[in-house]
Amino acid sequence: MAALCWEEFYRENPEPKHISFVKSQITEFCEKYRREQIPVVLVTSGGTTVPLEHNTVRYIDNFSAGTRGAASTEYFLTHGYAVIFLHRSKSLEPFTRHFPSSSLLEVLHIAHDHHGKDCIAVASDKVKDLLPVLQAYQTTRSSGKLLILSFTTLSEYLHMLRVAAEALQPLGRKALLYLAAAVSDFYVPHENMAVHKIHSSEGPLNLQLQLVPKLLQPLVRFWVPDAFVTSFKLETDEGILLEKAYQALQKYGHKLVIANQLHNRKQKVVLVSQEKQVPIVMTEEEMRQGKEIEEKIVLELTSLHTKFLHEIA
Ligand code: PMT
Repeated sequence: MAALCWEEFYRENPEPKHISFVKSQITEFCEKYRREQIPVVLVTSGGTTVPLEHNTVRYIDNFSAGTRGAASTEYFLTHGYAVIFLHRSKSLEPFTRHFPSSSLLEVLHIAHDHHGKDCIAVASDKVKDLLPVLQAYQTTRSSGKLLILSFTTLSEYLHMLRVAAEALQPLGRKALLYLAAAVSDFYVPHENMAVHKIHSSEGPLNLQLQLVPKLLQPLVRFWVPDAFVTSFKLETDEGILLEKAYQALQKYGHKLVIANQLHNRKQKVVLVSQEKQVPIVMTEEEMRQGKEIEEKIVLELTSLHTKFLHEIA
């Protein structure tokens, strides 16, 4: 069965309850930076879920830890961008990603203040790791340039994506979209979903998943026609990766596809545009030093965006 058209998808899958609050937050954020002439990037991150029941016990998930989006957000901030970080709830977030909860208590130790009372201090061997992150975090907090929003389901994500894209429209070319979220292509339509937990006593579960319409199409054509839109293409088969990236460019007419493979996504990506392919590769030495590929991706992307801003519209 063919996918619904995107308008039908939005009609049939209700908005999340807090959508008007989200909309006012994003609109206010975009309006502030439009007035200040500061570029704004929408970073999407993490995987969407497809619930099987309205009272959800089971769901299908898309793979993504959220590293790409969370790390890239930090680098966009260092390049002066204001960032809307739309991420899967409980996936990695900028700054806190450096301190997984399992190692959080390792960073602290019990000390004594000058009255001899117990207090908590950062272990001296951890200061060099913590200090730059804390400095960057505090700079971002006081600048107000980071808006963090979260989604869980596919439907929440797609509703929030549209609201965010529409709010970015007034920024014109100054808006950059960096769609790194891993978005499901299949779902259970709202009206076909079981209300309560599906029971095994009813026998084997036969699932028929419907196709999700590709939202890149209305996004590029109607919601942010002037923005610099970058999507990601994830494949596990290297043989088809670049071909798929070109197909996406052709079909949606956006600026750039960042092609990556699941197994080596932290070492290699290819920036594919109509004009050229730019591979970005991490050397063994860079990996050993703990450098991140997102630093290079964002450097290249912000420079492409700057060039785009200076082209005659
Ligand atoms: O988070 P990490 O663990 O660091 O991993 C990062 C990553 C591998 C998830 C990331 O780099 C990546 O590749 N993200 C995109 C994965 C993906 O869903 O690819 P896709 O081929 O299914 O979709 C391609 C594009 O179409 C995406 O930009 C998506 O936003 C868009 N899309 C997808 C489905 C849909 N219904 N509508 C869409 O517009």
